[in-house]
Amino acid sequence: MTRAREHWGSRLGFIFAAAGSAIGLGSLWKFPYVTGQFGGGAFVLIYLLSTLFICVPLFCAELLMGRASQRSTVGAFSQLARHNQNWKGVGWLAIASTVIVFSYYAVVAGWTLNYVLLSLTQFTKGKSPDEIQGVFAILLKSGSINVLWQAAFLLITAGVVIGGVRKGIEHWSKILMPVLLILLVGLFCYGITLSGFGEATRFVLWPDFSRLTPSGILSALGLSFFTSSLGFGIILTYGSYLKPAESIPKTAIIVLLFTLAISLIAALMIFPIIFTFHLPPSGGPGLLFKTLPVLFEQLPATLLISTAFFLLLVFTALTSTVSLLENLVANCMELFNWSRRKSVWWTTCLVFVVGLPSALAGSGALFPSWVEMYGEDFFGTISNTWDRWFLPITGLLTSLFVGWKIDAKIRKEQILAGSHWRWFFYPWLFLVRWLVPLCILIFLLQAAGILNIESA
Ligand code: PHE
Repeated sequence: MTRAREHWGSRLGFIFAAAGSAIGLGSLWKFPYVTGQFGGGAFVLIYLLSTLFICVPLFCAELLMGRASQRSTVGAFSQLARHNQNWKGVGWLAIASTVIVFSYYAVVAGWTLNYVLLSLTQFTKGKSPDEIQGVFAILLKSGSINVLWQAAFLLITAGVVIGGVRKGIEHWSKILMPVLLILLVGLFCYGITLSGFGEATRFVLWPDFSRLTPSGILSALGLSFFTSSLGFGIILTYGSYLKPAESIPKTAIIVLLFTLAISLIAALMIFPIIFTFHLPPSGGPGLLFKTLPVLFEQLPATLLISTAFFLLLVFTALTSTVSLLENLVANCMELFNWSRRKSVWWTTCLVFVVGLPSALAGSGALFPSWVEMYGEDFFGTISNTWDRWFLPITGLLTSLFVGWKIDAKIRKEQILAGSHWRWFFYPWLFLVRWLVPLCILIFLLQAAGILNIESA
């Protein structure tokens, strides 16, 4: 028996849901610190170009696969590949990426919940900067606390996804995204009042190419992939809920411009604080959880600012984890004919179990010799390996699949349906066939050490 497929109730609902998936810890946590590490404006420019010329075409490709097949990841590859069922493997690779990335993403998302509670209990009060920063190390070492927050975050995500496409994801995205925007704009306005705002704007928006390194270019490419949620089949699944009257190019551009704007606002919110307090802009991954609470303590209204900031992170992480879970659920419902409820609980349990080594990574409770063996803890190993390799590989295969393999008529029909932009088709096809795969290939060869444009 086949179930009638749910569809988004409105275009705005879809845009909020897709932008909710894309805007996450990648934009708010990773983008600012990586921008800091790679020298600011020029890196931002490359990130922008990569989002527009690589991610937009791929985003359209995933959307069109979902809408044309009316299936989720695995089913879409299987149906559109026609005779060559090997392509289904790309769908399974995307599912594996979803499980793995979700498993550690839920741990970081759990930290954001933990910091909301810490903010409410005013954990910075009467502590020296070293003691405040030390709280993060205590958290990392405490396996059971990590597991508690990881489980809590997964349960909240399951609670949203169980409601289905319209009543769950669309409904909550429409509530959470505006709240997120209000919080972000509020904190951004606060940043404007700080003395370091001018310097921050120059740092983020003025491209100084002398600071740009080839590895910076590659990182910008990788980050744009991650923040656009590409390579997981998530956008594909969301595309399968898209009505035929919606224009794929238009929605792709709106969603990704929205994501770009949020990443920029996030950087323009964080850097004024960094410059006002004379901290190095290259503070690294600890920037958010370690450095910012030290600064919050020096500001007026610590309780309010700190709680608002970490709540903002919770909301952005939630709209992303919702999309990760929906991708798994939609595939289970389709492949095994399970109910939504059953799919939600089984996949949530799976992700919880797979995430346990990441949650326990800092405590050494599991695999105590991991660091000695692989140079970084389990969490670091898995997140770095997966992001660098499997997302771009899936993206590369998807672009080749859509550019060369699928039925040309379906491809054209889907890009033109509901769209007034007839001119868009050929430039898009060129990008999907040539530019996107070539750029990703260079990225992979550089990461593999086969190509070294750094010393070229
Ligand atoms: N795009 C999200 C972010 O920037 C990460 C993510 C990847 C979310 C894949 C869902 C799926 O944080």
